[in-house]
Amino acid sequence: MDIWHIRGGRRLEGACFVQGSKNASLPIIAASVICPARTELMNVPQLKDVDAALRILRHLGCVAEQRKNDVYIDSTYFSCSAIPHSLMEEMRSSVIFMGALLARCGEARLSLPGGCQLGKRPIDLHLSALRQMGAEIEEDGQEIYCKARKLHGAEISLPFASVGATENIMLAACTAKGKTLIHGAAREPEIVALQDFLCSLGADVTGAGTDTVVIDGMRPQKHAVCRIIPDRIVASTIACAAAACGGKVELRGVIPEHFSTVLYFLNKSGCDIMSKNRTVSISSQGRLKAPGHISTQPYPGFPTDAQPVLMAALLKAEGCTRITENIFENRYRQASELRRLGADIVIEGREAEIWGVECLRGTSLNATDLRGGAAMLIAGLAADGETVVFDDGHIGRGYERFDVRLRAIGADIFLEY
Ligand code: EPZ
Repeated sequence: MDIWHIRGGRRLEGACFVQGSKNASLPIIAASVICPARTELMNVPQLKDVDAALRILRHLGCVAEQRKNDVYIDSTYFSCSAIPHSLMEEMRSSVIFMGALLARCGEARLSLPGGCQLGKRPIDLHLSALRQMGAEIEEDGQEIYCKARKLHGAEISLPFASVGATENIMLAACTAKGKTLIHGAAREPEIVALQDFLCSLGADVTGAGTDTVVIDGMRPQKHAVCRIIPDRIVASTIACAAAACGGKVELRGVIPEHFSTVLYFLNKSGCDIMSKNRTVSISSQGRLKAPGHISTQPYPGFPTDAQPVLMAALLKAEGCTRITENIFENRYRQASELRRLGADIVIEGREAEIWGVECLRGTSLNATDLRGGAAMLIAGLAADGETVVFDDGHIGRGYERFDVRLRAIGADIFLEY
């Protein structure tokens, strides 16, 4: 159990570098097996989910190791196409190995993936797309077995721009015969990052960042190098912490356009935002005003992953903030814990109303999930007195040395393992 001890009420001042993106790293690590190659990845965050992905690679027979923020993978040797339940259950994105294994050896046996409990998280879009590419898939509610003598290209229309389904199709399509078109593809920066990596492995992929991605085979390379993009959700989280506590924080090494919708709402709440090249600086007086209605959407809309942390930043904002959560059916799990600090939050289905309160009072909380846990840290930093967050490993799945990063900008926070 990780125990976060926070003494709230301090302004945040200073600069901090933002880690590499978890959600870009994981599909790229899976993609490293689609052909025999040596891969070097830089700026990979040291996180439990990254460690889990590397253990999957080692289970498959590859060499995979992380030294600080560099990851080395050699997928020349590859001995297995099955991933046991004990490895699959550690994270949601283990499902991306389905497309990668099909691309490499035409077969994949895996169980249903784990990850944050954000409501039903079906993988029907992944399975239907792979079937359209010629995969035969058997499922028994717990295990999935996919087989394809040779995948073929297909024209696939996704009814919803699923990030994971887009990634799985991109991986499977790299070694398929013929061209694959994904209409209605997810447009997140992590999809563009995956395209860039696949191209450096020799794949012919275009269109990422638009709603049509085209994959037209590959001429495998033996060596690929890639620098992971900065984590837009970690950047958003630190920006929300600065907004809630007051002060002036400079986020370095970021791509401002990747979290511009979050910055837009912070600006509307009364923060001053300055973006220049790879730096964003945010100044806040600490007393915010409600920014109106926030509605989560696929990129380039407001990201669901930043919804809990923005909610936490606005607990004391003057007026009422309304949120509509459109992506996950159960992504307000943080609300009941935040109420224990004195927050006034009303939830009805996918709608939330946050009525700003004068002050929050520190107490002990239980982290419910990754971003919900981060929201509790922000609320604790903005509360009077001491807050203790008990966390069964959620926050460390996505935030690298977060206690150190927050202390560097003046937070009074201590992590007890
Ligand atoms: C990715 O999850 C991210 N995870 C999530 O990050 C993020 O919240 C999510 O995209 C949305 O942006 C990784 O990149 C590892 P989806 P993913 O497929 O791929 C429904 C975080 O905090 N759906 O776009 O699982 C699904 O149930 C996290 O870092 C289907 O119905 O997201 C959900 O409601 C958690 N059928 C919605 O689509 C399918 O086959 C979005 O899912 C697939 C998805």
